Amino acid sequence: MNKVKGLKSKDLLGLKDLEIEEINLILETARSMKEVIARPIPKVPTLLGKHIVTLFYEPSTRTRTSFNTAAKVLSANVTNVAISSSSVAKGENLIDTVKNLEVMGLDCIVIRHSMGGAPHLAAKNVRASVINAGDGFNEHPTQGLLDIFTMIDKKGPVKGKKVLIVGDIAHSRVARSNIWGLKKLGAEITVVGPPTLIPKGIEAMGVKISYKLDEELKDADFINMLRIQKERMEKSFFPSIEEYSQLYGLNAERLSRAKKDIVVMHPGPINRGVEISSEVADGPFNVILEQVTNGVAVRTAILFLLLSGGRPGKRPAK
Ligand code: CP
Repeated sequence: MNKVKGLKSKDLLGLKDLEIEEINLILETARSMKEVIARPIPKVPTLLGKHIVTLFYEPSTRTRTSFNTAAKVLSANVTNVAISSSSVAKGENLIDTVKNLEVMGLDCIVIRHSMGGAPHLAAKNVRASVINAGDGFNEHPTQGLLDIFTMIDKKGPVKGKKVLIVGDIAHSRVARSNIWGLKKLGAEITVVGPPTLIPKGIEAMGVKISYKLDEELKDADFINMLRIQKERMEKSFFPSIEEYSQLYGLNAERLSRAKKDIVVMHPGPINRGVEISSEVADGPFNVILEQVTNGVAVRTAILFLLLSGGRPGKRPAK
């Protein structure tokens, strides 16, 4: 049983900053929240009167919707700011935006931004809790936590398990959050991809690097296939999509050489036929939609832990 009663900070900005006990507390709380969500009426009054805003400077289907669902499970109010029709379009900066949102009585701001560190900047400037919903190439902590939750769901504690993270490591905040969290919990991680998509120095995070997927696949417990992020690539990182897919894409033939109980993961959205074939994405080894379902439980747990009181973390003075 976890002895920690709350999260230390008012914010959730990354798995790099969380202690092992805090990660375990979130995962244990998410387990309880999954039971609440499975009830015929999935609603508890815990955050009645609290107000959450989602402020997404980049598109999202899964993260934003699951934060909305999580807030509603806990009876909180939610406002989704549409960036394109907000005053951001008139040039308002991030600090002014979050300060203005806060004085309307908001308790929590969930931010996604293309700039690494944007949620950290916001968090320093408001008393409200800030949750990082993805910042540039830096972190996507709630995705990392839902991935770890799903792994534990499937195979028990991740300590000693071999996890492959495959593809566009360089542009992936999902990879970084997975690495920070999984390393703390004792998993063995190998990042796999073309040399152009493996950032220099990543081995300092305690991961093994490989350029050969077929060699790594045979003893892996989990394979997390990352999306090729064309929108973040300023130049071509591989000769062609076909070549990338041939060397690093997960198809049924390649998967047939893996362990019989391998678990196939993908954070979504999927580029079908690029990093993963439809046959594998919809096949028996994948847990991709379970990851999405678990995302609601994990985000419900985080909102609960940050906003329901009894948390030892102090908010900065105004
Ligand atoms: N995995 C993920 O972050 O998906 P969205 O971009 O749809 O939120």
